[in-house]
Amino acid sequence: MSFLEEIEKRRTFGIISHPDAGKTTLTEKLLLFGGAIQEAGAVKNNKIKKGATSDFMEIERQRGISVATSVLAFLYKDRKINILDTPGHKDFAEDTFRTLTAVDSVIVVIDVAKGVEEQTEKLVKVCRMRKIPMIVFINKLDREGKDAFDLLDEVEQKLNLKVTPLSFPIGMGYDFKGIYNIWEKKLNIFSGDNKQTISEGIEFKDVNHPELDKIVGEKAANTLREELELIYEVYPEFDQKKYIAGDQQPVFFGSALNNFGVKELLDCFIDIAPNPQPKMSNTRLVDSKENKLSGFVFKIHANMDPKHRDRLAFVKIVSGTFKRNTPYLHVRLGKKVKFSSPNAFFAEKKQIVDESFPGDIVGLHDTGNFKIGDTLTEGEQMNFKGIPSFSPEHFRYVNNADPMKAKQLYKGLDQLMDEGVAQLFTLDMNGRRIIGTVGALQYEVIQYRLEHEYGAKCTYENISVHKACWVQPEDEKNEEFKEFKRVKQRYLAKDKQGQMVFLADSPFTIQMTQSKYPTVKLHFTSEFE
Ligand code: G4P
Repeated sequence: MSFLEEIEKRRTFGIISHPDAGKTTLTEKLLLFGGAIQEAGAVKNNKIKKGATSDFMEIERQRGISVATSVLAFLYKDRKINILDTPGHKDFAEDTFRTLTAVDSVIVVIDVAKGVEEQTEKLVKVCRMRKIPMIVFINKLDREGKDAFDLLDEVEQKLNLKVTPLSFPIGMGYDFKGIYNIWEKKLNIFSGDNKQTISEGIEFKDVNHPELDKIVGEKAANTLREELELIYEVYPEFDQKKYIAGDQQPVFFGSALNNFGVKELLDCFIDIAPNPQPKMSNTRLVDSKENKLSGFVFKIHANMDPKHRDRLAFVKIVSGTFKRNTPYLHVRLGKKVKFSSPNAFFAEKKQIVDESFPGDIVGLHDTGNFKIGDTLTEGEQMNFKGIPSFSPEHFRYVNNADPMKAKQLYKGLDQLMDEGVAQLFTLDMNGRRIIGTVGALQYEVIQYRLEHEYGAKCTYENISVHKACWVQPEDEKNEEFKEFKRVKQRYLAKDKQGQMVFLADSPFTIQMTQSKYPTVKLHFTSEFE
């Protein structure tokens, strides 16, 4: 198969949702279609159970499972599908944001009864800003939920999307009879009372045909006709270009649990979803069809085996062919690195591969050379953009609790930060270290992992910080910036990359500081123009 055909057949995407909307169930059903797993339940365990915040065995188990399920790849109708797993737990939102830099599209799962929830809003906002193509799947139609049109309105308004339904439910909950597939003009209906058997789609180009009344009953047939009429009137026709540009979002309805509407989703997905897309670097736009290799690290898993300091860096291939035992430039370190056993992912297994193509994820064994965001090339000096750090929500001083183990503590902190577990800030004034996290759960994870993987102990101390603001002076030499540094000295720190950060204690402080020092820009992310 030629290089271009390899690119053409790849679909790399992520599934995002608020916890419990059905992401795991849907993933599993997609894997079943791809023949990648034989029975339901295989992916199910990849969840941080609610309320299990102190269950460290659980955390360890999760880490094990999450390596296995970080990338789930399978073949379906000659397409290579790569699903990148995103943690649903909100305390790991930053991990999800980073994974979103490596996908070419996403499927957003929404619970028909709960509608748009908080976590969906946050994640979709990120996708919208990055213009990632999105398909919406409204799940749990076997239960009573909101009216389909109301939901479409809610999705448009709360998520700020421009939707167009590609399937539409016939009834809901107890009366859920099936789905009209607008995309393929087919009717899919449940057969049997238990709603477990699903008919193959019946071609049904003309819904006015009396046959429809016979199949779903007169009342449901008439309702469907009216609803479809309304849809064609109100919603724009599906336009693939707009979808790929992030300007239109097709919507599907179904029930992942009952495997209803999932095949329709997958069949349409492989037709319309984008193959590996170009990606912006700090110097230029890199096209996936370019022959020279480029890729970037979006995730790191460390110390799966405590006896070896092994880490697995997940690299998304942006362009070219990744080959085993071939030296590539590690741009940040300015040195050549090669890999004798790069892993590719297939279903829940990983295996050593000789070649990988754009859209694929390779897992590289690493002894500490990689950080999230690192770029590999065949020699070109460039870095992929779009993996910023966001301001954490929680901040605490970290103290060494065992003076004999200071070295281990700092090494452990260093490596956990490379993995992206949390962010470390070092105060300019006294060199004290502050850990910033998205959720409170990370503090427990860090403490536990420092002890178990590095033999170090730490304690935390509260500090009143509201947000970390990355500082961008218009002119480093002007008096205003000098004064800012002098006055705010106590609140200035460096992040791990050595960038200057202002740790503001309240929204009011940020506002005041901005108006007092207008030439000193404060940003909530580490990447800005
Ligand atoms: P998540 O990954 O988004 O957190 O959600 P997950 O798939 O784990 O689904 C959350 C719950 O919703 C599960 O029930 C799952 O069985 C159920 N679910 C998923 N899809 C559907 C659907 O189409 N219809 C209905 N009725 N339920 C659905 P649970 O009770 O929390 O877990 P379990 O005991 O079933 O494993």
